[in-house]
Amino acid sequence: MTAAQSNECNIPFNPEFCSISNDVLTSNYTYKNTIVTKDTETSKISIKPIEQNYKFKLNLNVPKTGIMLVGFGGNNGSTFLSSILANKHNISFNNKEGLQQPNYLGSMTQSSTIKLGIDNKGNDIFVPFNSILPLVNPNDLIVTGWDINSANLAECIERSQVLEYDLQSKLKPYMKDFIPLKSIYYPDFIAMNQYDRANNCLNEIPSDHQTGKKEFNIKNKWNDVEMIRADIRKFKNDNKLDNVIVLWTANTERCVPIIEGINDTKENILNAIKENHEEIAPSTIFATAAILEHTPYINGSPQNTFVPGLIELAEANDSLIAGDDFKSGQTKLKSVLTQYLVDAGIKPLSIASYNHLGNNDGLNLSSHKQFRSKEISKSSVIDDCIESNDILYPKDAIVEGGKPVDHCIVIKYMKAVGDSKVAMDEYYSELMLGGHNRISVHNVCEDSLLATPLIIDLVIMTEFFSRLSYKKIDENGIEDNTETYDNVYPVLAFLSYWLKAPLTRKGFKPINSLNRQRQALENLFRLLIGLPANDELRFEERLI
Ligand code: NAI
Repeated sequence: MTAAQSNECNIPFNPEFCSISNDVLTSNYTYKNTIVTKDTETSKISIKPIEQNYKFKLNLNVPKTGIMLVGFGGNNGSTFLSSILANKHNISFNNKEGLQQPNYLGSMTQSSTIKLGIDNKGNDIFVPFNSILPLVNPNDLIVTGWDINSANLAECIERSQVLEYDLQSKLKPYMKDFIPLKSIYYPDFIAMNQYDRANNCLNEIPSDHQTGKKEFNIKNKWNDVEMIRADIRKFKNDNKLDNVIVLWTANTERCVPIIEGINDTKENILNAIKENHEEIAPSTIFATAAILEHTPYINGSPQNTFVPGLIELAEANDSLIAGDDFKSGQTKLKSVLTQYLVDAGIKPLSIASYNHLGNNDGLNLSSHKQFRSKEISKSSVIDDCIESNDILYPKDAIVEGGKPVDHCIVIKYMKAVGDSKVAMDEYYSELMLGGHNRISVHNVCEDSLLATPLIIDLVIMTEFFSRLSYKKIDENGIEDNTETYDNVYPVLAFLSYWLKAPLTRKGFKPINSLNRQRQALENLFRLLIGLPANDELRFEERLI
């Protein structure tokens, strides 16, 4: 390999495949894969290697970026703002262990490394993930958001009981002026136990003074879209932002049915909003507004906001979307542990996951319909792993409707434990010659301190993907002379690493395995600086 070059942006890159001009990194890459076919009668497998040349462009100027959180005043929303302000203002604080410094632990972009290569003795060299290519510094993010509750963010951190008291006290002066924008509340979509919280809503009808009962207008849905669009534009203009990202971290909504003629195409869903259809949820309003404003929209909760009509709308508008449901603790571990067992040839027979938590998310999930959304997104996380091994799970042995692995998910609300969610999992597997293996995992941690770094990463990587474009080069190496580059596909499956039930482009199955998800990100970064995909052959050591 040609020696790596340095440049004014300090990016190490391989000049054989890359160049930098006018703050744009251009990289050539030959993508290689294998088409595998299996003869159904003889079971004979044939392979055909394929190659496709690409040229990528990455704008190296990091834009001024704003983030609008739906559910700003919740545990995640207020912890997100806290983490940024604590780091930005370098706020240290005391807990019972002594003086603590702010940090971004748990964020892959801020606190993890990528293997770049080896030194001349064959030892691996790792560099910080965020040192390879320019990424937004989370300290520079401009933050706002909507909440159906009017508490300011200083009140919210007290209510959420996530942070140490000393840190709360030091943060409050910085947070008290952050007031959530008014949001949209349609009572049917989140649990009724959230009704009292809804005192900051664009669609509230002036109360009936006799009963004192709050009423909400659910018959002006297109107007709701327009109001959210106006909020996005105003935030962008007021803060002179180049880029805004909208992310849903509000309460889990119930799922909606996919209804022909209502939410199955982009035209139908726009009409359904205009006709105030009852299956149009607040999250549909936010996602539609973001897509129409050409603003990336990420769904951090499990509900199926991305119905076919909305995906079609994002595709038609070339507007980035990603979801669903942050993959934080229990599910992340499950996607690693199941992969380990199945790749080791051990056969998981049952996985039982119990949770109890006492925060507002737990209260909302104590209602059946909202729990069901969570159950669906949590259940899908082992699917690709199971499908990958038909020695353990032969396809014809799985009777219709039967499940290859008994997988149960239980979530209980237990106020006392607050945000310190307790997750207990049992993996029961079959070993050779009739043996059995039982792995029990007991995990306790502040739920929002696991989820917040994921929000940071999702925002940072979404912004990164907004700067990346590519074009295909034909097999003779001839590129069309046009300067037309395509953006990455609007359904950002590259973000799967942070999501429990990754949204994928139509016709493709999600990848849940954490290692495979991370590999894709690492190798993308590597190819952009002209390096081959990482392998662990280590021939320096293993061959003479
Ligand atoms: P939370 O209940 O503390 O916060 C949610 C906030 O959303 C509340 O302040 C509520 O008032 C607000 N809200 C509800 N409907 C709204 C609407 N239509 N518009 C604007 N605001 C609205 O919940 P938390 O713990 O912050 O979690 C947020 C979401 O993230 C939940 O859906 C949860 O399932 C999901 N999640 C959380 C994970 C974690 O580890 N904390 C992991 C995976 C997903």
